[in-house]
Amino acid sequence: MSALSPPPDQDIVVVGATGDLAHRKLLPALYNLSVEHLLPTKGNIVGTAPFTWNDQRFREHARDGVTKFSRTGIDTAAFDAFAQRLHFVPIADGDLAPLRAHLGCDRRIAYLAVPPSAFKALIDALGAAGLAQGTSIIIEKPFGHDLSSARALNQTLHAVIPEDRVYRIDHYLGKETVQNLLVFRFGNSVSERIWNRDAIARVEITVAESLGVDGRGVLYEEIGAIRDIVQNHMFQVLAVTAMEPPISFEAEAIRNEKVKVLESIHPIDPHDMVRGQYAAGMVEDERVVGYLEEPGVAANSTTETFAALRMHLDSWRWSGIPFLLRTGKRLPTRDTRIVITFRDVPVHLFRDVGVHQMDSNRMVVHIQPNEGIALKFVAKQPGPDVTTQQVEMTFSYGTSFKTSPPEAYERLLHDALDGDHTLFIREDEVESGWAAVERVLMSPPPVHLYPAGSWGPPEADRIASPGHWHNATV
Ligand SMILES: NC(=O)c1ccc[n+]([C@@H]2O[C@H](COP(=O)([O-])OP(=O)(O)OC[C@H]3O[C@@H](n4cnc5c(N)ncnc54)[C@H](OP(=O)(O)O)[C@@H]3O)[C@@H](O)[C@H]2O)c1
Repeated sequence: MSALSPPPDQDIVVVGATGDLAHRKLLPALYNLSVEHLLPTKGNIVGTAPFTWNDQRFREHARDGVTKFSRTGIDTAAFDAFAQRLHFVPIADGDLAPLRAHLGCDRRIAYLAVPPSAFKALIDALGAAGLAQGTSIIIEKPFGHDLSSARALNQTLHAVIPEDRVYRIDHYLGKETVQNLLVFRFGNSVSERIWNRDAIARVEITVAESLGVDGRGVLYEEIGAIRDIVQNHMFQVLAVTAMEPPISFEAEAIRNEKVKVLESIHPIDPHDMVRGQYAAGMVEDERVVGYLEEPGVAANSTTETFAALRMHLDSWRWSGIPFLLRTGKRLPTRDTRIVITFRDVPVHLFRDVGVHQMDSNRMVVHIQPNEGIALKFVAKQPGPDVTTQQVEMTFSYGTSFKTSPPEAYERLLHDALDGDHTLFIREDEVESGWAAVERVLMSPPPVHLYPAGSWGPPEADRIASPGHWHNATV
């Protein structure tokens, strides 16, 4: 991030400043930007929430969050300098007008780190407080609950703030590995030649979490895996994987190509999806309860904690190629990866010397953890006979760059402060994503149980067939 410079002067308003996201991600990210001189030179950071905190209490909360979650730890002098900019204004009766007294700049950005149910009232309140002029908004996921609610939320937003000041955040786009996919695909002449239906047989995207609902049963009951992960994070990874080369590296050129991918998703048939829900089991050597026993979850809940789906893109580049998406909670490990399987060789030349079965070439993009790329191919085992074995060539961030990538939220906050929309989701992208899952949301397939610590219900194997899922080795 060293090539970046401080964004224009502006205030930063964190709405929902007492919550989990602010504590674990936003305040540590703002602190690290401050340490790297990448915050606006002038401007306050104003936290707000219904809690009646004061500046001192907010600064203690920030210190705690930075101590526990900052990737660089905490430097006392640097934190004290950062803390001077922190102020807290309690919201009473949904009125945001008291914020005005704490804003020193003509320009500001408001981060809505609040439950989605609060989005509309807060956007209206910004307008009612006379704060629309000069305000940009960063808005968290999930953006809507389905296509019609996403459209309604877009209308609410645009009544107060124009689209060019709206930043819909999906922190997956802030991950170095997702951005590197653009560089890998469009910065290397060798990759684009094989990135199509002629060379690729199938594409698998897995987002596996070992965590359960982590005490957020009430919230998760309303959402489920399709809305929580598939419609946003997985579709964004899909869009970057499958997009055409943009005409430039400008935000709109990239977003134009991403939206075409989402618009090309063939409507997903409920038969091409398997939903699952975790039962009690063992995860990472720990016994855990099933979803139905989690606090806040209805005893007869059919909310999915796992989804696997097969989809196709109606496009020249990808016609006929299956895209297999799978996500779940309480899987054996935390692992997000894209597995590209290439077509088999046309003739099995080594059959005559006893090698009947050869593994297909595969490329694995490790998005998290162990960020990097691996190419798996077949090599001859040393010796007088022709025997083959699959081997791996790897690129790893840790080894090549000897540095840990910055947190996604640091990059995204800086970009939004700087007015760069490249890594944020446009109005039409969010609506195309919802349109693609509309059918499965209206008629969801049944939910199958899977033991916590497994790779999901056995029924999901049908989605990957012929062939199988490529799981992380645990
Ligand atoms: N936590 C994460 O890691 C994470 C990751 C990705 C996305 N998100 C998204 O980020 C948003 C916030 O999540 P969270 O985990 O931080 O939730 P949280 O821990 O429940 O915190 C919500 C915050 O919003 C405030 N709030 C609630 N209702 C409000 C209202 N009507 N007006 C103003 N403030 C209100 C709360 O204040 P009070 O406590 O005073 O009510 C609290 O400060 C959600 O949209 C979530 O989906 C969170």
